[in-house]
Amino acid sequence: MTVIEQELETTAKMMVAEGKGILAIDESTPTIKKRFDTINVESTEENRRAYRDLLITNPGGSKYISGMILYDETIRQSTSDGTTFTEKLINDGIMPGIKVDTGAKDFALHANEKITEGLDGLRDRLAEYKTLGAKFAKWRAVITIGNNMPTDACIDANAHALARYAGLCQEIGIVPMVEPEVLMDADNTIERCYDVTEKTLSTLFTTLKDQDISIAHTILKTNMVISGKQCSTQASVEEVAKSTVRCLLKNVPSELAGIVFLSGGQSAELATAHLNAMNQNNKDLPWPLSFSYGRALQEPCLKAWGGESTNIEAAQKALLHREKCNGLACKGEYDEKMEEAA
Ligand code: G3H
Repeated sequence: MTVIEQELETTAKMMVAEGKGILAIDESTPTIKKRFDTINVESTEENRRAYRDLLITNPGGSKYISGMILYDETIRQSTSDGTTFTEKLINDGIMPGIKVDTGAKDFALHANEKITEGLDGLRDRLAEYKTLGAKFAKWRAVITIGNNMPTDACIDANAHALARYAGLCQEIGIVPMVEPEVLMDADNTIERCYDVTEKTLSTLFTTLKDQDISIAHTILKTNMVISGKQCSTQASVEEVAKSTVRCLLKNVPSELAGIVFLSGGQSAELATAHLNAMNQNNKDLPWPLSFSYGRALQEPCLKAWGGESTNIEAAQKALLHREKCNGLACKGEYDEKMEEAA
């Protein structure tokens, strides 16, 4: 095994270590502004730094969190005592990751569909991020369900970009977290979500293999197979867990290093319950099933903070609670009664 392969192997294993998952704090500046708007906090650079500071310095978080995904601005920032965020994370045994795509843009000739950009100059950006401490990187593709959507062209083009990004990551020893997100905002049934997720994942893995990506050194970040938010019939926790695992077993190679889920707008408790059900009912899956939630980990914490430094302790407590619940859900050991005690 080469030094780079060894590095990829160690990082990938650590990302999905038992009982641990990833905290996604990689909101772009426009997205974090939307989050701050909900608590009436102005999105200044210092407010963004202060908020990320409390997420990163949360005492006890490293028991449940193996890595955090940062944004370009965040990876260059420091805690209030002047330690760089990446140094703080590494000292706490948490691996810094970095979002490297530059966003989902309108897909030419395909109304309402998106293609993720960011390949130009990516080799150089990855080299810089590596010197700043990044161990893994994330690229998010967006697949929309609707009338005549998604098109094969959209799924193919996004899979192609994901594979090119993954190759550049592996070349330099950074683990790619490939994220093809089938959005859960529409009125589709869970069956339709299953079909679209199946097509997206099977295309993705064919394309990754075509481009010689090492699947064993890749992490998949995916949506759950779930009813669209606007669908009048909402599938139960058991149905979501069952359909998601069935879809993954059918379409994801067993040599993959691990699977982490995005929350995609599910409530914090529901995202935990879904993950827990999958792990409780399936003890011999080929890959660890874990989390890489943004909103489902942060929302209670963001509300508790409200932009006030006097609320930092309460905000960190709220975050630690969600981290613990999800850490336990990775082992199928979460109990919803834990929410009452919180
Ligand atoms: O790429 C998506 C984010 O990292 C996860 O965000 O859990 O709020 O969907 P979410």
